[in-house]
Amino acid sequence: MLNKSYYLIPIISAIISISFWIGFNINLLPEEASINAPIYDELFRILFIIGLILFLGMTILVIYSLFKFRKKTGEIGDGIALEGDLKLEIIWTIIPSIIVLIVGLYSYNIYDRMGGMNELNNHHQIKNLKSEKIWAGINQVSNTNGTNNPLVEVSAMQFAFLFNYPKGDFISGELHVPVDKTISIKMESKDVIHAFWIPEFRIKQDIIPGQPTILNFTPTKVGKYPIICAELCGPYHGGMRASIVVEDPSDYEEWFNENKKTEV
Ligand code: CUA
Repeated sequence: MLNKSYYLIPIISAIISISFWIGFNINLLPEEASINAPIYDELFRILFIIGLILFLGMTILVIYSLFKFRKKTGEIGDGIALEGDLKLEIIWTIIPSIIVLIVGLYSYNIYDRMGGMNELNNHHQIKNLKSEKIWAGINQVSNTNGTNNPLVEVSAMQFAFLFNYPKGDFISGELHVPVDKTISIKMESKDVIHAFWIPEFRIKQDIIPGQPTILNFTPTKVGKYPIICAELCGPYHGGMRASIVVEDPSDYEEWFNENKKTEV
């Protein structure tokens, strides 16, 4: 008869293969509509695969144990007490530690690639904010077309987002931005903590009263996407939504010119 561990090898290989297959073929996330989205999804895929391996492994082990260690007829009591198993304890401490360490370093790398570790106050796009302290945010390394990006000021309040376009001197209830340009927005809250979340862009940033935050992103697909408040901010938090409209630069220009205040 074969040693018990010989049966384990094909079972573990099958679990790992199935998990990888599901991880690479089943997508649970919405459309990828910004340059951050594919970066974020890479991390999500890894975490999803690790979760699948654990879930399948545990489930199979539980079902196996249900049959294997079933109470036999005439059996009384729980059997002999188990003492600690040093080898097993070392294994189940080391393996999770390595996984957590790798995931931690990899997450840091993803956050860095998304622009989370960049200096906020020295960026050319926000120079005109004088020496005001920006507390937090994601500062993407701007790509080629950095100069005439619209700087939108977002005000969050219970229970709405307002978008101020200082260059055109108007306020909009809907955020319009041109496609394939790095957009820089500055966010402030009028009351409590809110959060600016666009699932299709895979970005989320808190909006904090008295502490402006910056968020940079580059939309890659024309379309209309939801902006959702992702911080419990009061009784109508669930209804605090707005939309972002990503347009071709010419359509954006047209919308901007229609709305901007004409000089007297
Ligand atoms: Cu604003 Cu929740």
